[in-house]
Amino acid sequence: MNKTTSNLKLSRRDFLKLAAAGSVVTVGGYALYEFAPWLNYESQVTKTWTPSQDSSSADAKLRGLVHFATLAANGHNTQPWKFALKENTIEIHPDFSRQLAAVDPGHRELWISLGCALENLTVAARASGFAPEVTYPDAADFIHIQLKPDTAQSSDLFNAILLRQNTRSEYDGQPVETAAIEQLTLEPGVSLQFITTPAELETTLNYVNQGNLSQYADTAFVDELIAWLRFNKKDAMAVMDGLYSICSGNPEVPRWLGQMFVAGTKPQQQADIDAKKLRSSSGAVLVASTADDKSSWVRTGQVYERLALKMTALNIQSAFLNQPIEVASLRSQFQNAMGMGTFLPQLLVRYGHAPALPRSLRRGVEQVML
Ligand SMILES: Cc1cc2nc3c(=O)[nH]c(=O)nc-3n(C[C@H](O)[C@H](O)[C@H](O)COP(=O)(O)O)c2cc1C
Repeated sequence: MNKTTSNLKLSRRDFLKLAAAGSVVTVGGYALYEFAPWLNYESQVTKTWTPSQDSSSADAKLRGLVHFATLAANGHNTQPWKFALKENTIEIHPDFSRQLAAVDPGHRELWISLGCALENLTVAARASGFAPEVTYPDAADFIHIQLKPDTAQSSDLFNAILLRQNTRSEYDGQPVETAAIEQLTLEPGVSLQFITTPAELETTLNYVNQGNLSQYADTAFVDELIAWLRFNKKDAMAVMDGLYSICSGNPEVPRWLGQMFVAGTKPQQQADIDAKKLRSSSGAVLVASTADDKSSWVRTGQVYERLALKMTALNIQSAFLNQPIEVASLRSQFQNAMGMGTFLPQLLVRYGHAPALPRSLRRGVEQVML
C-alpha cells in the first residue's frame, strides 16, 4: 500500500464523525430549505395590505380600486377573480380555474367571493370620489361596475378594509354588543339572522358537528383542502394564495408533515375543535337569501363583507363555520331547524373577541387582470 492511499483511509471513529457532520449539514440544509429564513413574510404582508399611492392617471386609480377588491374574503383564499378595466368601468369576472370542485361544486361560494370583492371595490370607489353603479350577473357571466364622478365619502367601512381578517382562533367567551351591526344596510333579497340564545347556539353546533363529520370523512374534500393549505411561508409566498397555517393559529411545518397531519385528522377531532370555537364565541349570524342564483350569491357576498368590515370597525372578530351549508344533504335540515322559513342559508359566521392573527397574502393586481 503506498503512503497516499493509506492517508486517505479513514478510521472507524473518523468515519462516524464525518457521517454525523454530513447528517447535520443535510438536516440543516433541509431545515433551511423548508423554513427559508431569508423570506420575510411580514414585509410581504405589509406590501399586500398597503394601498397604492399612484393616482397619476385614470388607469392607476382604477387599479388602486382593484387592489382594494382583492383584499376581500374569499373561499380558501383561492382569489377566484379576474378584473377588466374599460373607460370608467371595472368588470369582475369569475376565474373558474380556481374553483373548489369538492366543497363548492355549484360555484355558489365562488360567486359569493366575487360579491365580497365587489363590496370592497364599491366602498373604496365611494371613498375615492366615485358613485358606483352595479350591474349584476343575471344574464352576463360577470359583474359590471360603472364609476361616475362624485364627492368622496370616506367611511368606517373603508378604513376597515385594510384591517379585516378571518380570525379562526378560540374567542374569549365574553358577550358582544350587536345593536350597531343589526342596523347594517342590506341588499335586496338578503337577510341576517342573529343566533344568540344558548338553545339556538346548541342547535347550530349540532349541525356544524354533523357537517364536520361528513366533510372530514370525504377524501375529495380533504384532498382539496390540502391542495390549498400552505404549511410554511415558503409555500405561501411562492404562490401568494391559499390558507397559510399561521393565519389560522397553527404552527409552521414542512409540507409533508402538514399533509400527513391533515390527512390523518379524524372527523370527530375536527368536530371537537370547532365545537370549542363556537362555544367560545359570543354569538353567530346567518347570512341568507331568498334565491339561489348568481346575483343572489353576489349580493350575499356584499352583505357578508359589509358585516365583516362593520365588525372590524367595532373591533369584533369573526370567522366562518359553513359546514352545515356546504354539505348539501344538511342544508335544508339546518334551514328548518333554525326556523328560517323560505330564506336559504348561505353563510354561517361566529363572532366575539380575540387577538388578531397574522394576515393572509394576495396576488398582485397585475396577476388578476384579464
Ligand atoms: C364564500 C366563503 C366561504 C368561506 N368558507 C370558509 C370556511 O368554511 N372556513 C373558514 O375558516 N374560512 C372560510 N372562508 C374564509 C376564507 O378562507 C378567507 O376569507 C381567506 O382565507 C382570506 O383570508 P382573510 O379573510 O383573513 O383575508 C370563506 C370565505 C368566503 C368568502
